[in-house]
Amino acid sequence: MSQDPKRYTITAALPYTNGPVHIGHLAGVYIPADIYARFQRMQGKDVAFVCGSDEHGVPITLKAKKEGITPQQVVDKYNSIIKQSFEDFGISFDNYSRTTSKIHHDTASEFFKKLHSEGKFIEEVTQQLYDADANQFLADRFVVGTCPKCGNEESYGDQCESCGTSHNATDLIHPKSAITGAVPSLKETKHWFLPLDKYEPFLKEWILEEHKKDWKTNVYGQCKSWIDDGLRPRAVTRDLDWGIPVPAADADGKVLYVWFDAPIGYISATKQWAKKQGKDWEPYWKDKDTKLLHFIGKDNIVFHCIIFPSMLKAEGSYILPNNVPANEFLNLEGNKISTSKNWAVWLHEYLEDFPDQQDVLRYVLTSNAPETKDNDFTWADFQARNNNELVAIFGNFINRVTVLTHKYYDGITPSEGMLSQIDIKTLETVRAYPAVIESSIERYRFREAQQELMNVARLGNKYLADQEPWKTIKTDEQRTKTVMFVALQIASALAILSEPFLPHTSRKLKEMLRINSRETQNGLQWSDVATKQILIAPGHTINTNELLFSKIEDSQIQAQMDKLTASKLANEIAEKVTTPQKDTCTFEDFTKLDMRVGTIIEAEKMPKAKKLLVLKVDTGLDVRTIVSGIAESFTPQEIIGKRVTVLVNLAPRALRGVESQGMILMTQMPDGTLVFVNPDTAGVSNGDSIA
Ligand code: MF3
Ligand code: ZN
Repeated sequence: MSQDPKRYTITAALPYTNGPVHIGHLAGVYIPADIYARFQRMQGKDVAFVCGSDEHGVPITLKAKKEGITPQQVVDKYNSIIKQSFEDFGISFDNYSRTTSKIHHDTASEFFKKLHSEGKFIEEVTQQLYDADANQFLADRFVVGTCPKCGNEESYGDQCESCGTSHNATDLIHPKSAITGAVPSLKETKHWFLPLDKYEPFLKEWILEEHKKDWKTNVYGQCKSWIDDGLRPRAVTRDLDWGIPVPAADADGKVLYVWFDAPIGYISATKQWAKKQGKDWEPYWKDKDTKLLHFIGKDNIVFHCIIFPSMLKAEGSYILPNNVPANEFLNLEGNKISTSKNWAVWLHEYLEDFPDQQDVLRYVLTSNAPETKDNDFTWADFQARNNNELVAIFGNFINRVTVLTHKYYDGITPSEGMLSQIDIKTLETVRAYPAVIESSIERYRFREAQQELMNVARLGNKYLADQEPWKTIKTDEQRTKTVMFVALQIASALAILSEPFLPHTSRKLKEMLRINSRETQNGLQWSDVATKQILIAPGHTINTNELLFSKIEDSQIQAQMDKLTASKLANEIAEKVTTPQKDTCTFEDFTKLDMRVGTIIEAEKMPKAKKLLVLKVDTGLDVRTIVSGIAESFTPQEIIGKRVTVLVNLAPRALRGVESQGMILMTQMPDGTLVFVNPDTAGVSNGDSIA
């Protein structure tokens, strides 16, 4: 491809439609993709920025089972939440499609049929994991077990989220059904496999040689390790009832593997968009002068760098991605973001809690983007970056410029007069920024790019602080005009350069300054900041001042922290409720336990032991000493006289030198406090046994 591509096809990972979108998705995929797409559009480039809902696959089926609804209902629900929240947030997709759409089913089926008819698949009957209780094969996320590579005990059948390896379900050690918990058996079934081993030479050449320099090291490194480990054929079909039916004879009850159909979703989304635009979709996928880019998270690397390119290569008429700028993960307050554990900041909820503050979240997530390593989002950092950077630097500069322009000149841009050395130098510095920012964006370094944008605002603040127009207004009218003229040029540059990063702010600022961007006739363009001497002309009237950013208060942050605490607590309760049942014990085992009703008649603290109380308990058989770890929940006084359940034939054991002759049965409340298993029923007496 030439240096200057004719067009851009920019894809953002299709989100699984089993939950809403959260900040991890935004930071890893959608914000960087959006910055890139907006930036290229501003350069006047032909851009197709596509995405859509990934609506097949096991996670959706599992969610439907859990909620007692159909998979279709699950995807309808989350597709609409996700689509709306992207729109409200300002992710500028040209098309947001769905993989349950007809155009996608057709496109994916055609793709499969072509490879099938050209003999690109291996057709093979193999043994697959089967859950006899559920009467179902266990593909992908229907099975969990130990990862053969890293030992993670919660690896899925197709992929380990801990080490990123993609494997076959039969590779798992100690597999267990995610539906029934049963240990699966093996059952024969026929599937179609893409022989990845055959694409090894191609992948070696294409990734390890051609893209050695320009792909991110995390992406290149993962690819290299898979290729070095040796690639094996991968099944592209599954025994499931949710998905795209396999378009081949003898394939009843089989669907395409979700990772076969989903990336084809990029193609069908492009087709759908082109059709609406009255354009031809094919150049966006087949012309070698198109730059194809996949924005994804690191768990998707193997699929976008190895499997999908092998599919495209096998098909033969498609271009390959020029780059796959994958990000690492974002954590939340020190813990891994989790949809199932509700440990997340959900986009649609953020938009409700912080209406019209889309750009604050964009800014914070880009500042802290997990570009080279996992990063952490904290609400304290969110507040600090808003208050100390957006408000105090960007907002403050614009506010000073616009307020003073109104105060001194009724909102009319003053004439430039004689520029001093400092003025000339300052304007030259501003003119250098478009290239600096562009260079960072073209290398997918969005945090760096955004820092450079903020440096423009910093420059403006410093310029005003040094030139002090609020002082010179009393002594030197013309100098003040010149300073305000320069400051207004910097403000205009900010309005244009902020568009890819802070689109809502950029629009507001352009309205405030009454300058047009490139969509309008004679509108200002990105490159104008570098080349034009004057962005906002003397005599031009600006609109009244509006605040671009506002302070975020402690109470708002506390409300968010409270939300997280609540979800942590809910998880703990849920975990308690679902504590798995222990291994079966026989009736004989059970009858060995001698449990009796007893009364605590004395209680005192065990010296130097925070948790222990020494109790004297009347068991009906005797009065005995029991050491109990309940001192954090009870004072000695409050439990004297309490009826309790005692295990009386527990082998005695010495705790801190005191022999304990039994155990008091307790249960733990969700908040961690202990309560007695209380046989306080009228008519029971000490010594009554519990069975
Ligand atoms: N749904 C996948 C995920 O959330 C991403 C699919 S990307 C595509 O991890 F290429 F398959 F579309
Ligand atoms: Zn692993």
